[in-house]
Amino acid sequence: MLWKKYSQEKINHHVFTALEKNISYTDEIMLGVPASYLDDKVFSKDSNILKNAPFLTTMVDNPNHIGCHTFGTSESFFSGTQEIERDVIRICSENIFNAAPESCDGYIASGGTEANLEAIWIYRNYFMQRYKASIEEIAILCSSDSHYSMDKASNLLNIGLYKVSTNDETREVQSNELIKTIRTAKENGTKYFIVIANMMTTMFGSADDIELYISNLTNEGVVFRLHIDAAYGGFFYPFANKSNPINFSNPHVSSITMDAHKMAQAPYGTGIFLIRKGYMSYASTREASYVEGEDCTIIGSRSGANAVAVWMILAKYGPHGWFEKVLVLQRRTDWLCEQLIQLGIQFYRNPFSNIVTIRATSINSSIAHKYHLIPDNHHDPNWYKIVVMEHVLIDKMEPLIEDLKN
Ligand SMILES: Cc1ncc(COP(=O)(O)O)c(C=O)c1O
Repeated sequence: MLWKKYSQEKINHHVFTALEKNISYTDEIMLGVPASYLDDKVFSKDSNILKNAPFLTTMVDNPNHIGCHTFGTSESFFSGTQEIERDVIRICSENIFNAAPESCDGYIASGGTEANLEAIWIYRNYFMQRYKASIEEIAILCSSDSHYSMDKASNLLNIGLYKVSTNDETREVQSNELIKTIRTAKENGTKYFIVIANMMTTMFGSADDIELYISNLTNEGVVFRLHIDAAYGGFFYPFANKSNPINFSNPHVSSITMDAHKMAQAPYGTGIFLIRKGYMSYASTREASYVEGEDCTIIGSRSGANAVAVWMILAKYGPHGWFEKVLVLQRRTDWLCEQLIQLGIQFYRNPFSNIVTIRATSINSSIAHKYHLIPDNHHDPNWYKIVVMEHVLIDKMEPLIEDLKN
């Protein structure tokens, strides 16, 4: 397994060694790049501050990870930290999502939205180039509990969007509803489907049944590609539900979005896009001729410090430490659910999730506001969610339970 737990000393050594492999704006003659280290009148380069701070040092050094570094050539200036990014992509695709060694490409995106957009952009172009599909023949298919980045993608990429309703109690897509939606899309001229299945939805933490999508789309005789939105769940669900089938071991799963800036507590700007080899070039912008290796990401320039941050978090915990972290959050969520059941409060929780979503009819809105619960919509809430993150200790949830009792 590539994913290992390292001592802090080894983590520091690894990152500082990578930075030494990058070109130095200070020590080398670097005349053509429209970038530099962070302004040292504002951001200190004081070695006393940065000595044991590999992430801050990377921020100050300011490497640009423009492009994708898992295939083809890349900008040679920042090869040290690009290697760290490659390791993050391999750990996520192979050790978390069961991909075969070196079978995936990917990059650190700005967030879950960009990673979802990237997948949909790639498949739209793939269908247009490989199947000579017209824009009108391509559509996104997902559940009504999916993140609004699907609506953004439909708007930006000018393709249709079909949402299958979910059951109000179970949050599951029903087979008959799915078939109805696929047939409506076909009647409207859709021949090529970009399917987005969820590994933990934003509001409910629910996970889709990918076999339901695969079998029904196959029965309907349509061409499809399957992307998994694990922006929220990617660093949680595979550890809480180790035998779950949503990963690259299923040949239909071609790409996955993860977000380290959610459950992994990394800085914002650490979305992770993973895709089987062979697809990335469908997003290649050949006009990016001044970038070595060209660019097939949406974002363009991006900080190498984000890759370093994700790698440091993964290396600090190692796979077993990560499993234990998830286990603690699961137990806390169990505690919360036990209290709500005792109080007769109606809620939804996927057994492998740390999101608890309470029916608005079961909770006074002033209590929901007091504890900053998040509504499904701010105008007329049907649900309020509690997300049991690292800082959401039982001690912090207890006053809510007391208020609910009263
Ligand atoms: C399931 C899911 N997908 C995508 C996103 C979008 O992520 P970001 O805000 O990082 O763009 C979110 C954000 O909450 C999410 O929950």
